[in-house]
Amino acid sequence: MKEINVAVTGGAGQIAYSLLPRLISGETFGENTKVNLRLIEIPQVVEKLEGTIMELIDCGFKQTGSLMATADIREGVTDAEWVLLVGSIPRGIVVEGKKIEERSDLLRINGGIFTGQGEAIGKLAKNDANILVVGNPANTNALIGKTKSNNPSQNWCSMTALDANRAKAQLAAKAEVDISSVTNMTVWGNHSPTMYPDPYNARINGISAVEVINDIDWVENVYLPLVQHRGKAVIDARGASSAASAANAVIDTVKSIDNPTEEGNWFSAAVPSDGSYDIPEGLFFGFPLRSSGTGSVEIVQNIELNDFAKSKIKITTEELLSEKEAVQDLLE
Ligand code: NAD
Ligand code: LMR
Repeated sequence: MKEINVAVTGGAGQIAYSLLPRLISGETFGENTKVNLRLIEIPQVVEKLEGTIMELIDCGFKQTGSLMATADIREGVTDAEWVLLVGSIPRGIVVEGKKIEERSDLLRINGGIFTGQGEAIGKLAKNDANILVVGNPANTNALIGKTKSNNPSQNWCSMTALDANRAKAQLAAKAEVDISSVTNMTVWGNHSPTMYPDPYNARINGISAVEVINDIDWVENVYLPLVQHRGKAVIDARGASSAASAANAVIDTVKSIDNPTEEGNWFSAAVPSDGSYDIPEGLFFGFPLRSSGTGSVEIVQNIELNDFAKSKIKITTEELLSEKEAVQDLLE
C-alpha cells in the first residue's frame, strides 16, 4: 500500500468530526493508500483528540495509518503531502463579549493564525504539498498563509466547493433533474456573500443552466442570494456553522485536485490569480479549474462572461482587495 501524510488543523472541531473518518476510509485518497493522520489543535483542547483517535481506531478502516495529536504545528505538518487548514473560529460564536456575525469580524481574529502556520508549512511540509484552507475568511487566510510560507513549489488553495455544491443543488431542484446532470459550476471570487456562483456557464445535461431554467428573475433574485447567504442561513437554522456539508466539500476538493478532471468539465476552488480574467495577481480567487491528476491545476480560460457576470465579479474582487488591505501588516 502507498502511504500519505495528512495534517488537519482544528482536529477537535465540528467539521473535523465529520471529516476525519472519511480521510482514513479509502474514500478520499483511494482504497490502496494508507493515511497517516496528524491532528493539530490549540493546547487547551489537544487532549480531547485522544478521544477522537480512539474513535478513529474503532472505525476499523484498513487504510488507517499512524494517528497523532499535537499542539505543535511544526510537528504536525512535517513531511505532510496534504495540509487541511480547518482550525479557526466560526461565525455565530461570542468572542470577548461580541457575537461574531460577519466574515470581516473574523479577519483579524483568524488571520493571525495563518502567519505561523504558513511559515511552518513552507519550511516543513513536502515541497509538492497541497494546502487547502477552510477556516474563514478562507481566501484571505490562504493569501496570508501562502505569503508567509515563502515556498512557491507548494500548492495553496481555499475552499469554494461547498458553495459550488449548494449552487448545483439549487439548480438541480429548480430544473427537476438529478444533481449529477449539473456540471461546469464556477464560484467566482470570495467564499462570502459576494461570491458569484455562475449559472450562465453551469450546464444542465450540457446546456446552459439559465437556458434550461428559463426564468431570469428566479436566477438573479432567488437563486443567487440564496446560494450567497446559505452559510448564514445554516448558522441561523442550526445554531452552528455548517459542518457535515463543509467536510464533504473538503473531500470533494481533495479528490478534484488528486484526480484528472473529467473531459469537458471543471471544478471550483480559489487559487492565486495569475491575472486570468483581469483578476489582480496573487489574490485567492474562485476560478474554474482543471486538474491533470498529477500535480498541476490550471485555470480554465476563455469562459464567456456577460455584463451581469462582470458586474458581480467586480464586486467580489473589490471585497477581496479590501480584505487584503485590512491584513496588509500580516503579509509583510
Ligand atoms: P469549530 O469551532 O467547531 O472548530 C474549530 C477548531 O479549530 C476548534 O476545535 C479550535 O480549537 C481549533 N483551532 C482554533 N485555532 C486553532 C489553531 N491555531 N490551530 C489549530 N486548531 C485551532 O469550527 P468548525 O465548525 O469546525 O469550522 C472551522 C472553520 O471552518 C470556521 O472558520 C468556519 O467558519 C469555517 N468554514 C468554512 C467553510 C468554507 O466553505 N470555506 C464552510 C464551513 C465552515
Ligand atoms: C459556510 O459557508 O457555511 C461557512 O463558511 C460558514 C459561514 O460563516 O458562512
